[in-house]
Amino acid sequence: MGERLYVGIDLGTYQSTIASSAGASHTIETVVGRPKDPIARNFLGRDVLFGNDALKNKLACNIYRPMAAGVAQDDDANLAAAKAFVSHLLETVDPEEFDEVFGVICSPSHVSFTDKSNLVATLRGQVNAIMVVTEPFATAFGIEEIASSIVVDIGAGTTDIARIYGTFPTEEDQITLQEAGDWLDEALMELIRKKYTGAQVTKDMVRRWKEEVSYVGGDTREAIVELSVEGKKQVVDIGDLVQEACESIIPKIGNGIKQIVAGADPEYQPVLRNNVIISGGGSLIEGLAARVADEISDIGDVNVWCVEEPIDKVATGALALAQQMPDEMFTSIN
Ligand SMILES: Nc1ncnc2c1ncn2[C@@H]1O[C@H](COP(=O)(O)OP(=O)(O)O)[C@@H](O)[C@H]1O
Ligand SMILES: [Mg+2]
Repeated sequence: MGERLYVGIDLGTYQSTIASSAGASHTIETVVGRPKDPIARNFLGRDVLFGNDALKNKLACNIYRPMAAGVAQDDDANLAAAKAFVSHLLETVDPEEFDEVFGVICSPSHVSFTDKSNLVATLRGQVNAIMVVTEPFATAFGIEEIASSIVVDIGAGTTDIARIYGTFPTEEDQITLQEAGDWLDEALMELIRKKYTGAQVTKDMVRRWKEEVSYVGGDTREAIVELSVEGKKQVVDIGDLVQEACESIIPKIGNGIKQIVAGADPEYQPVLRNNVIISGGGSLIEGLAARVADEISDIGDVNVWCVEEPIDKVATGALALAQQMPDEMFTSIN
């Protein structure tokens, strides 16, 4: 038999990562751009752009975020964008140097089962066999915490909270909250507009500020940013607003964790409470683990911690699964 390449793919609403058994790993924003007209096509010199390249040229392109919440998965333009994106992601790990490719794929929780057949259609011809798993499970597998844990994945579009106890979680073992990174950006944008009337801010600006200074708990910190208020430059401190926005997600996450604990076998509840793992880009909020632990402390002894390098964790976990699962766990899509 020829040489086989294993890949772990995290298709995220915001960014996607691929990790391969040949040691390659790439993260690209889940964005596709197509030139708006022949002039743009001529100027850009290509038919399709991905990630940062698409964003840099966004004024000359139609921009697609094919995995974002609310995007109709059967819309032709988005489906084509998703296919192009996945092909591009795969090409970054040189699959043509191998005889076959086996992949473990995580897609956002709002991508339902019928959409998964789109996923298969998207991968057909590029991957020989696939296995689809949830993000929390891939994360737990990658960090060897599948015995008993609660994984809280705070992404851009959703926060997924799952009970993990040694086997594949079922649908009942997971809940999905709409409060996640994008929701935080909206909350922060609202607060800024309320305090600084006429402030001109975009979602992208707010997200960048949040990523630089996000924190919860403790004293209010300073965070100086430059705003445009009705066209006029204004330098302001949004530290208190960042704290307020980040704090507002804590009760939502706390309640979600409590619900997942309460639904577990009572004999398991103490061990689950003692191993709450936060992952996803949202886990980079400073002070988060301690603040969440405090929020849920009324249910008993708890231990809450954040994974290291959360941006790669889903893909590296998926790769570990791909390498360790027997062939019969994969679905052939030749
Ligand atoms: N330092 C940070 N503080 C707070 N949020 C962050 C930070 N870094 C990234 N994020 C947020 O994490 C989210 C992306 O996380 P990710 O797990 O990659 O999402 P997805 O799986 O949905 O693509 C975005 O909302 C992003 O703004
Ligand atoms: Mg994710």
